[in-house]
Amino acid sequence: MKHLLKMLDMSKDEIIDILNLADQLKYELKNGIPHPHLKGKTLGMIFQKSSTRTRVSFETGMYQLGGQALFLSNRDLQIGRGEPVQDTARVLSRYLDGIMIRTFEQKEVEDLAEYGSIPIINGLTDFCHPCQVLADLMTIREFKGTFDGLKMCYIGDGNNMANSLIVGGLKVGMSVSIACPKDYQPDQQVLDFAEQYCDKFSMTDVPLEAAKDADVLFTDVWTSMGEEAETEKRKIAFAGYQINDDIMAVAKPDAMVQHCLPAHREEEITEKVFEAHADEIFEEAENRLHAQKAVMVRVMCK
Ligand code: CP
Ligand code: NVA
Repeated sequence: MKHLLKMLDMSKDEIIDILNLADQLKYELKNGIPHPHLKGKTLGMIFQKSSTRTRVSFETGMYQLGGQALFLSNRDLQIGRGEPVQDTARVLSRYLDGIMIRTFEQKEVEDLAEYGSIPIINGLTDFCHPCQVLADLMTIREFKGTFDGLKMCYIGDGNNMANSLIVGGLKVGMSVSIACPKDYQPDQQVLDFAEQYCDKFSMTDVPLEAAKDADVLFTDVWTSMGEEAETEKRKIAFAGYQINDDIMAVAKPDAMVQHCLPAHREEEITEKVFEAHADEIFEEAENRLHAQKAVMVRVMCK
């Protein structure tokens, strides 16, 4: 694996390999077994949007792997003043061993990979959030033991999380059902991909329908980073697209709940459901660390 740009690029075998390595690195960390696979290597982390989990887990993960991470804010880089990505990529490739980037357009990430000569890891774009979904899959397998026969349900905005969950869930063999308002459906590229899995993929605008017999329920914020001007409009559009007791009542009795965080209680999820499933949700957040370490090892350890 050369880069991690989007789930659409990954094969099932590559996903499972990352999850297996992530499990191993988690075990080693918990048992005090050092794993300095990236000793002496440097990761640059470009952030054009805010972050708590991504920033801290990449930086800590790089340290645990024996390397170091540089936080590169858009406010300080020349990229924020208009220096082309093509030039930035070629310059940073001469200093760093890898780049993690969180930005708006997916094209910027793809351009970094095209023009640079070092591994690029997508830390979230408007299109997708592959690092999050690898951690989500790791968490599902940890709690359920398998993906076979599981139904994943996502309720809410057809955003970066929905796009990545659909692709990741289907690739590892789960059934995936989505409930989102008609004007907020997932990206067409993702819907075209899902078409190959017509027996395993369904989309509706009725949350109760999508949640029926689900083993894992996902949601995400109604307003993503960069969409703040639409917050009030979105609150109206997404009213009813909430994980609450009614949704839990139609899902399997042992259904898990996952949320990439940050969460907005009483919007996309009730406080009651969130707290009842907090162990699963915070394990998911922890697994960002382990899954991303596995990604860094696979793309940077050559
Ligand atoms: N889930 C996630 O990516 O969190 P941050 O925005 O805090 O990085
Ligand atoms: N959809 C959210 C995910 C945050 C981790 C956003 O893009 O803001």
